[in-house]
Amino acid sequence: MDREEFQRTYGIVGKSPEMQEIIDVIQQVAPTDITVLISGESGTGKEVIAKAIHGASKRSQQALVSVNCGAIPEGLIESELFGHEKGAFTSAADLRRGYFEIADGGTILLDEIGEMPLSTQVKLLRVLESGEYMRVGSSSARRTDVRVIAATNKMLEYEVQQKHFRPDLYFRLRSVNIHLPPLRNRKEDIPALVELFVKETSDKNKLHFGGFTDDATELLMSYSWPGNIRELRNDIESMLVLESGKRLDSDDVRKYLREQPSVVSERNLPVVSNKTVEQAERELIYRALLDLKSNIIEMKELLTGRVSQSDDLHDHHAQPQNGNGVLTMDEMERRMISGSLARNNGNRRLAARELNISERTLYRKIKDFGLQ
Ligand SMILES: Nc1ncnc2c1ncn2[C@@H]1O[C@H](COP(=O)(O)OP(=O)(O)OP(=O)(O)O)[C@@H](O)[C@H]1O
Ligand SMILES: [Mg+2]
Repeated sequence: MDREEFQRTYGIVGKSPEMQEIIDVIQQVAPTDITVLISGESGTGKEVIAKAIHGASKRSQQALVSVNCGAIPEGLIESELFGHEKGAFTSAADLRRGYFEIADGGTILLDEIGEMPLSTQVKLLRVLESGEYMRVGSSSARRTDVRVIAATNKMLEYEVQQKHFRPDLYFRLRSVNIHLPPLRNRKEDIPALVELFVKETSDKNKLHFGGFTDDATELLMSYSWPGNIRELRNDIESMLVLESGKRLDSDDVRKYLREQPSVVSERNLPVVSNKTVEQAERELIYRALLDLKSNIIEMKELLTGRVSQSDDLHDHHAQPQNGNGVLTMDEMERRMISGSLARNNGNRRLAARELNISERTLYRKIKDFGLQ
């Protein structure tokens, strides 16, 4: 199958050199059983790529089981993955088959792998190395034949440095690393994606699309798309439905963009492709710095707003500032979380997404900070 046919088969739009290179890698690794790590910001298409790898593999007739490691409570993750024996713990009334057992013969996608607890990581490494695992509450090893694809929007190397992620598992996973560059670094892919989403939305909803003016197209091309392809898809869908039939100009389009032109110009950043892991990681660091900068700006606004509203900053919280009047990290974090929850009307899923942390981490912090 040539590249174009492959992309058509799996619905992967992208003519940029970065995407073309990724397609080549996928076509090479798909037929093997090799473990693949897919990294990239939220909404860059990690799941789409995982599905293509499974679809083009010899396991395509078997199941692709997706597990979101960030959404399962820590105490349950092992029994979800490996199953448990009847009576293994208080609530284990029946025997339960785990995902590694269910996926036998097929593929398992471990999404948000950076959220996997360290104790579970050891067991995952064992399955990767020997195909063996144990149900919770059992002492006999079972075998499974599963191909593992892992996905992450975290910088795993940083997680390793922070001792949240085992280095041996990290090296094992990253032997084949497909890094999906953010959409702002492959802008030439935008027109074809817009065309696809326009077609999908108008077909699905039987809508007439009135077209974009030149300045609207220019805006779609120059916007930074922090939520990547998912954001583009959602925005196009909303625009078409809510502005049905109209020819859309840049003012119409701007209303739907999540972020108004950013404070920090991203144009000066180096364009990074998926060529090397180092480049990819550098790019993630830049992104983190940008996020930090906009967080600081947000914090400043929040603080000036608060100080003018009330002068009781010192009274409410335990030690919000150190001796020099500087906010503590905990206090900053607490305020960011409560700000994000307020902005998202208390919706934790959306707040977690905005803060780029897992829902589980957000729940824990809400509890730690007594925010509920
Ligand atoms: N190359 C592509 N061509 C066409 N559509 C794409 C492409 N990449 C992603 N999409 C679409 O964009 C949306 C987001 O993709 P996907 O769910 O794979 O992202 P993700 O990286 O897994 O995001 P998250 O980290 O938030 O889970 C989906 O609707 C998907 O169909
Ligand atoms: Mg995903």
